[in-house]
Amino acid sequence: MTQVAPAAQYAPRLIDAPSSMPSSVLAGSREGMAEVVTTLAGAVASARSVRRDGPIPHGLPGEVLAAATDTLGPPAVPADGIGADAALRRIATMLTEYGLDLSDPRAAAHLQPPPLSVAVAADALASAGNASLDTYDSGPSAIVVERWLVRSLAGLARLGEQADGVLTPGGSMSNLLGLLLARDAAALNRGRDVRRDGVTALPHPVVFCSELAHFSVHRACAALGLGERAVRPIAVDERHRMRPDALADALDELDVDQTPVAIIATAGTTDFGSVDPLPQLAEVAAEHAVWLHVDAAYGFGTLFSQRLADRLAGIELADSITLDLHKLGWQPAAASALLVGDATAFRSLDRTVEYLNPADDADAGYDGLLGRSLQTTRRPDAVKVAATLLAHGREGLGRMVDVCHDLAVHAERRIATESDLELVAPAELTTVVFRYRGGRRDELDRINGDLRRRLLESGQALIGRTTVRGQVCVKFTLLNPTATTDDIDELIDRVLLAGRASAARTEEGAA
Ligand SMILES: Cc1ncc(COP(=O)(O)O)c(C=O)c1O
Repeated sequence: MTQVAPAAQYAPRLIDAPSSMPSSVLAGSREGMAEVVTTLAGAVASARSVRRDGPIPHGLPGEVLAAATDTLGPPAVPADGIGADAALRRIATMLTEYGLDLSDPRAAAHLQPPPLSVAVAADALASAGNASLDTYDSGPSAIVVERWLVRSLAGLARLGEQADGVLTPGGSMSNLLGLLLARDAAALNRGRDVRRDGVTALPHPVVFCSELAHFSVHRACAALGLGERAVRPIAVDERHRMRPDALADALDELDVDQTPVAIIATAGTTDFGSVDPLPQLAEVAAEHAVWLHVDAAYGFGTLFSQRLADRLAGIELADSITLDLHKLGWQPAAASALLVGDATAFRSLDRTVEYLNPADDADAGYDGLLGRSLQTTRRPDAVKVAATLLAHGREGLGRMVDVCHDLAVHAERRIATESDLELVAPAELTTVVFRYRGGRRDELDRINGDLRRRLLESGQALIGRTTVRGQVCVKFTLLNPTATTDDIDELIDRVLLAGRASAARTEEGAA
């Protein structure tokens, strides 16, 4: 039998512990928030003393990682703490010295923007409140902010009154969730229930997407039990857009025992920024009664721009949309959402959990957003996005999109004038893909790979890389709205210099 210790044994600790802790250790208290601001100011001052020139630390990865590791001390939980001030100063210095500086105009590798100050400040406020979205009593104001944001984004996409949505930890997760809803809807339309019976209820599933769709679509198919073999890649045209005629043919060719689960269109392919022809794809989807998901993880932000929004015409016809504002939206990750045209799409996620949202609580209005997500505890990522929309408005964000697009067009034009460079894909949104061609033809793949690593090692430029039609290319992903055309010219000059150095080394190796 379990022995119950007498209460007196615990009494001294129960009395002593609270009095030794000032309320300022808790960020959400009035004193704590002041403490956050003071500690942060000290950390920022320390970080400012770090001398850095360039978007990425100078050196080879092994050297950089080893030096950064040393700054933290032995990898063990220290017996005694050094205090918030010293800890924050150490971390801030280390992050600055060995991290990325995305605000440097020479950072142009990935869909990873320099975040806006207002978003970072709002994110700190959200963290201090530590609300969760699952139930009313986990954070009523956070629920209001997310609902407001979802409605605002649905309005931007011109979805109808029935639209709904949810914030997720990233574009990959939004695609997963979109495909999950599509899978379950496809089953329900055939009188089957995947939630209850598993994926065997859905025979021979097929998911259509362009051959340039993001790899997270394939991964989602694997995770959802559809299998990667379910993915049917559809050919693209010369502008890297899915061909509606090829999609229609593929649908017509399905056997009777196959189940079309979804068509995944991409609005902003990762490398090229190309947007699939949404109105035509929506027509094919409607004709075949198949769910249309638009992966607008990259491209959604163009809706802020009066000049570029037309490129996403037809997005309002989607059954579901992935959008990432931690790409073309200048948010710190994560700020992704899945929107749906019809809120009933979420029915397969619906849950009643006794300790969270029992029916009588829910009936009395004490419900949250548990039924929109695979997560239970969920960060209020909507707070930073809402603050950004309020601070900058559509106009302000639209101008940022336009600037980045203009920079990409400038890069494209300059690349076209350089005899040692070959433009591989023009600027559709804010990326440009090109290739150094100044060396031996049979060594160009190696030279392009090497020149990028050279730039990374120098710490002076951070550019991207991809492979197009079997050839290694380099890529600019331009997301810095404070960069200028001079910055782009400097980046291109550095690519040319690094390319020449790589080509020379190849020649030396061959000699
Ligand atoms: C088109 C597209 N979809 C989805 C994703 C995945 O987004 P995340 O990295 O937020 O998971 C990306 C990432 O670059 C993307 O470009």
